[in-house]
Amino acid sequence: MEHKHSVEPIVRVKNLTKIYGSGETAVRALDGLSVEVQTGEFVAVMGPSGCGKSTLLNMLGALDQPTEGTVWVAGEDLSKLKDVDRFRARTVGFVFQLHNLLPTMTAQENVEVPLQGQIGSRKERKERAVHLMELVGLADRRNHLPGQLSGGQRQRVAIARSLANSPSLILADEPSGALDSQSSDEILTLLAELNSSQGTSIVVVTHDRRVAQATQRILRMQDGKVVSDHRITDPLEEDLRMFAQSQFGQTLLESSRTLHRFVEEQDLAALRQLLLTYDDGAEESGETEAPSSEA
Ligand SMILES: Nc1ncnc2c1ncn2[C@@H]1O[C@H](COP(=O)(O)OP(=O)(O)O)[C@@H](O)[C@H]1O
Ligand SMILES: [Mg+2]
Repeated sequence: MEHKHSVEPIVRVKNLTKIYGSGETAVRALDGLSVEVQTGEFVAVMGPSGCGKSTLLNMLGALDQPTEGTVWVAGEDLSKLKDVDRFRARTVGFVFQLHNLLPTMTAQENVEVPLQGQIGSRKERKERAVHLMELVGLADRRNHLPGQLSGGQRQRVAIARSLANSPSLILADEPSGALDSQSSDEILTLLAELNSSQGTSIVVVTHDRRVAQATQRILRMQDGKVVSDHRITDPLEEDLRMFAQSQFGQTLLESSRTLHRFVEEQDLAALRQLLLTYDDGAEESGETEAPSSEA
């Protein structure tokens, strides 16, 4: 209703700490993390295994409770939710690495599951599911069982299911992690399309540099904190950054011996100059939001 909701950040996280267990075995999965995601943003979260990415996503989806700190999603303080089930069903949509579709239901029936209790009539649920299957490009696979679909197709069904109740935020935890690179590209393209056509805000955890480059912003985490927050402004610059940090880019920067056959020395110097600008740029040009205290 209120107009300000459209300009409010979709996610506001303040001093979020999550400690699993207690005593000597306690694990500080999130450590005073603060971050905002604007409505309509497509954000990648990267970082080494165990740094707290999944924990963060679980907190954003109200799947787990923080030890300390506050999480607002779509203007709601999650610690004060009156109806957590409703929030999980309607405000957020989850896509996991393992799609967890129900194997005995057809693709379309899987998409209908989250609509139960949300949309009254069976006919409407069906129509909505058909529409979603079209949206993810699987209209002709509606009646297949998950076992009759490829990994990429199953993941698209999972995305259709996550969209069932038109969530304002999609949380995707390594959605392409188990896929080959072509299927992974398809999933990424689909997410990017949903972001631009439906205006859905998306937070995607990924190890894939290419997936991250296709988003608008990359958050890097380490030890339960955000250590770099990099906005992608120019795709060409991102390509150069990727090139500079690739094996080939690093070879160009490091040694010239083998390259003299292909490139004139002065061209090589110019190329090096260009690449140097982007070498390690991901870390340097990102403004750091995390507090720098070494608690
Ligand atoms: N349910 C849990 N119980 C205990 N420790 C956990 C639990 N979930 C995650 N952890 C620990 O919290 C840290 C962060 O985990 P996670 O968020 O899954 O990392 P990531 O997704 O970045 O790989 C890890 O050290 C992990 O072992
Ligand atoms: Mg994880």
